[in-house]
Order: sequence, then C-alpha cells, then structure tokens
Amino acid sequence: MRFRTFLSLGGAALVLLLQGQVALSDISVTPTDKESLKEAGKAITEPMWDFYLANQTEGIPGKLTGTWYIAGAMFMTMMQFWHVSGYNEHNSVVSHDMMFQAGRNYDYFDSNYSQWLGNDDQMFFGLAAITASETGFPEIKDKPTWTSLARSVFNQQASRWAPQECGGGITWQIHPWQAGYTLRNSISNGGLFQLAARLGRFTQNQTYFEWAEKIWDWSVDSPLIQPQINWYVADSTSGDNNCTDSGDMQWSYNYGVYLAGAAYMWNATEEPKWKNRTEGLLRRLTTHFFPEEYGGNVFSEVSCEKPHTCDRNMLNFKGWSSMWMAMAGILVPDTFDTILPKLQGSASAIGRQCDGGTENLCGSRWYQDNWDGIEGLEVQQAALGGITGTLMMLVGSSAQTINNNPNAKEQYLDYNDDQPDSLPKISTGDRVGSWILTVLWGGGIVAAGWWLIKQQ
Ligand SMILES: *[C@@H]1O[C@H](CO)[C@@H](O)[C@H](O)[C@H]1NC(C)=O
Ligand SMILES: *[C@@H]1O[C@H](CO)[C@@H](O)[C@H](O)[C@H]1NC(C)=O
Ligand SMILES: *[C@@H]1O[C@H](CO)[C@@H](O)[C@H](O)[C@H]1NC(C)=O
Ligand SMILES: *[C@@H]1O[C@H](CO)[C@@H](O)[C@H](O)[C@H]1NC(C)=O
Ligand SMILES: *[C@@H]1O[C@H](CO)[C@@H](O)[C@H](O)[C@H]1NC(C)=O
Repeated sequence: MRFRTFLSLGGAALVLLLQGQVALSDISVTPTDKESLKEAGKAITEPMWDFYLANQTEGIPGKLTGTWYIAGAMFMTMMQFWHVSGYNEHNSVVSHDMMFQAGRNYDYFDSNYSQWLGNDDQMFFGLAAITASETGFPEIKDKPTWTSLARSVFNQQASRWAPQECGGGITWQIHPWQAGYTLRNSISNGGLFQLAARLGRFTQNQTYFEWAEKIWDWSVDSPLIQPQINWYVADSTSGDNNCTDSGDMQWSYNYGVYLAGAAYMWNATEEPKWKNRTEGLLRRLTTHFFPEEYGGNVFSEVSCEKPHTCDRNMLNFKGWSSMWMAMAGILVPDTFDTILPKLQGSASAIGRQCDGGTENLCGSRWYQDNWDGIEGLEVQQAALGGITGTLMMLVGSSAQTINNNPNAKEQYLDYNDDQPDSLPKISTGDRVGSWILTVLWGGGIVAAGWWLIKQQ
C-alpha cells in the first residue's frame, strides 16, 4: 500500500537516498498551472485514501473510527477535486460509501448513530450530497438521487428550527439529553444556510431561498454574525441565556460556511445585500486567517495551529474554507482577484509542507517549509481542499454551473425522503462524533487528539 502510494507520486517527487532511508522532497506546485495542481492533488489524495481504508470501523463503509462526519467531509472534498481535475480513481468507492452512510432510511440519520449526532455532523453529509448534485457526480441506479439526500437533510434540519428561545436558530445538538443541547453554533446554522442557498440555486425552488434569508437574518440578530464589528463571526451562543452571550473562539470554517452561502445567494438573486455580505465576511476571513507574519497569502487556522492544539476537527477547517472561498470567487466575480492570491499562495505553501515521511505526508502548518509532524486523514484532507480551491479558481465558472445534472433535478421531486428515523432511546453511548467545538465553549482549548504528534 505504502509502496504503491510512493510510486504514484511519479515525477512530482525527487527521491533522495539518505543513510539508507528514503526521503522525498516537496510536492512541486505551480499554482498558476492546472496540470501541476492536479498532480499535487493526486499525490495528496493517495496517502489520505490509505488512512481512510485503514481506519474504517470494523469495515463499515464510510464510518471512520471515532468520528462519523469527517468521512462525509472527505467525500465532499474528493468530489469537488474530481470535478475540477477529472481524477476519478476512487469515485466508485466514494459513491458506494457515501450512499451507504445515508443509512437505512436514506436520511443521514441512521439509528446506529442518530442518538449522538449533532446537526453539524449531519450537515457535512448534506453538503457532500449537494456537491454531488452540482458537480454531476454519477447517480446510483435504483437509489435516491444525491439531491434528494441533500433535501432530506435540509427538511429534517428545517423542522428542528427552535424559536422558543433566542427567537430562532437550530441547536448544535439534536436531542435534549445531549450535553450542549441548548448551544446554537455557527457551523450548524451556517451549514443549513449554505445548504438552503445551494439547494435554492440548484432546484430553483423558492422555499430554499426563503429559508436562507430567514437563517441569515436570525444569525445577524443573534450574536453569531456581527456586521457592525467588522463582520465578526462568533462560534456559538447559548440558549440558556436566550442567546445574549457568545463563544468567541475564531475558526475559519464559521466564516467560510456563511461566505459561500452568501455568494450563492448573490449569484441566484443578484440582490446587492448579498454581495455586501460576501465581501464583508471575506474581508475578515482574509485578514484574520492569512497572517502578515507569513506573508499574508498563506492560510492558517490561527487559534490552534502554532501551539499545535488543533484537534482532529480543527485540522480540517482550512480545507473546507478554501473551497468555500473559491465558490465565492467564482460566484461573485468581483471577489475573484482578492481570493486568487490567497489560494495560490496557500497552494504553493502546501507543496512545501507536504514533504513528510516517505510518501509526501502533509502536516498542518502550511506556512512552514518542512513537515510539522502531524499526520493523518484530516491534514491530508485540508491540503486537498486547499489545492482543490485553487484549481476551482483556475477552472473557473464552469465548476459551479446551476445544473450539470438535469436528471437529478427531475428525479429529486419523486423520492419521498421525509420520514425521519424514529427517535432512539436515550443512550449515554458513543458521542465522539458530535463534539465539534463545545469543548471550547468558555473553557479554553482542550487537549489535542490522541494521534497528534507534538512538535516544538
Ligand atoms: C487508524 O486509526 C487508528 C486509531 O483508531 C490508529 O491507531 C491508526 O494509526 C490509524 N491508522 C492509519 C493508517 O491512519
Ligand atoms: C450499523 O451497524 C451495524 C452493526 O455494526 C453494521 O453492520 C451496519 O453496517 C451499520 N450501518 C451503517 C449505516 O453504518
Ligand atoms: C429572547 O430573544 C428573543 C430574540 O432576540 C426575543 O424576541 C425575546 O423577547 C427574548 N426573550 C426573553 C425572555 O428575553
Ligand atoms: C420546494 O421545497 C420544499 C422544501 O423541501 C418542498 O416542501 C416543496 O414541495 C418544494 N416545492 C416544489 C415545487 O418542488
Ligand atoms: C454567477 O456565477 C457565474 C459563474 O458560474 C458567473 O459567470 C456570473 O457572472 C455570476 N453572476 C453574477 C450576477 O455575479
């Protein structure tokens, strides 16, 4: 397995023989060249795929040990990369495993997991499904369309809208017995907002646009998005206090998730307010997460990267955010020139960081010229997202056409996907997958994951 991966790097890697050990040089990335970005993306995908295959729970397709949603986010990233590169080596497994995790009721809420999932966990599979629709990822015969799966996630989450406290929003957790249930966080609400905007643009069904408006407006009325203080996006706010307080850790994905949704809304509606919103969020994202210290064009998850305290969730954020920035660049053409150098600078940096081990493993600190010692599916996935975002910008507008997949558009109406799983019994069971970020709520950063290798 490792050997195959090593060979697949081909010309991208220079082999050095050092004292009997095989070491590789950087992945060469020319960020203005599509071919170079494709080769880099492939070289990053292969070790990620090895991690994926090695880490499925008891061989259950698409279920990674200790997490559920990260596989969905990885499928999302791989499909987006396939769409702009044509690299289809793993498509059949991605397709199978992504459908498998839709579960017995095709709702991404299978009773194996539903008692401990958060809305944000489920949302990543929803965003993967709409990505499949938009990119024309092949449908599976005799199975629901990707759009119907995305619609199912939307319908379930819209039905969880909770105006009893805070005037609205969806909670982070789905069941009242879960710790952190009353918390309303940006990734859950922003995820539903983005999914609504994308479904709206893809299906042209006005209901989704209305929901997108409503979720946005509530997010701005709550402390989550604060345009008046330079487009600050908080991580979360607490229903216990009727959403008057906020959890203020700064994470790129909270900006990115709303950013891309706003860009879709601009593109679909051409209402100027959506362009202003896209530009406002982008301004803060590009200043806060691209520190001058590293030249201003290299993406950094600043709240945890330098001290190496990013947990396995946080290690992914830059990858998704890079692709969401690219969507903004494509859908709001006036932002293109701002975004391009940020992504290209990051792509070059990724090439330099991915020189770990014998198979060009990527680490977490893109700004550092040599591998920082952190390895795993998550950092590979972030790097692939960074390369993919850059490639999306070069491939351009064709990457986000409204309807690449007319059959899906017609079929999505036919499938009845609105029957949620019956609620499971209360269980103290495994909650590991639904923990995005509450650990940070008021309590500072909690220790990093078991696999995180500390480096000076
Ligand atoms: C897979 O995850 C397990 C822990 O669940 C870890 O011990 C192992 O190193 C991982 N393997 C790979 C190849 O990532
Ligand atoms: C649910 O768990 C069972 C038992 O481990 C497994 O066979 C099945 O594949 C799982 N289903 C999903 C969707 O993960
Ligand atoms: C809670 O917040 C909502 C929305 O801001 C507001 O309409 C409502 O009056 C508040 N309720 C209480 C009890 O303060
Ligand atoms: C539009 O979407 C909503 C929400 O999913 C659905 O209830 C409604 O039936 C859809 N309308 C049409 C015309 O497809
Ligand atoms: C919408 O996005 C397309 C790219 O798919 C772009 O060509 C077009 O100019 C955008 N529309 C607006 C109003 O910005």
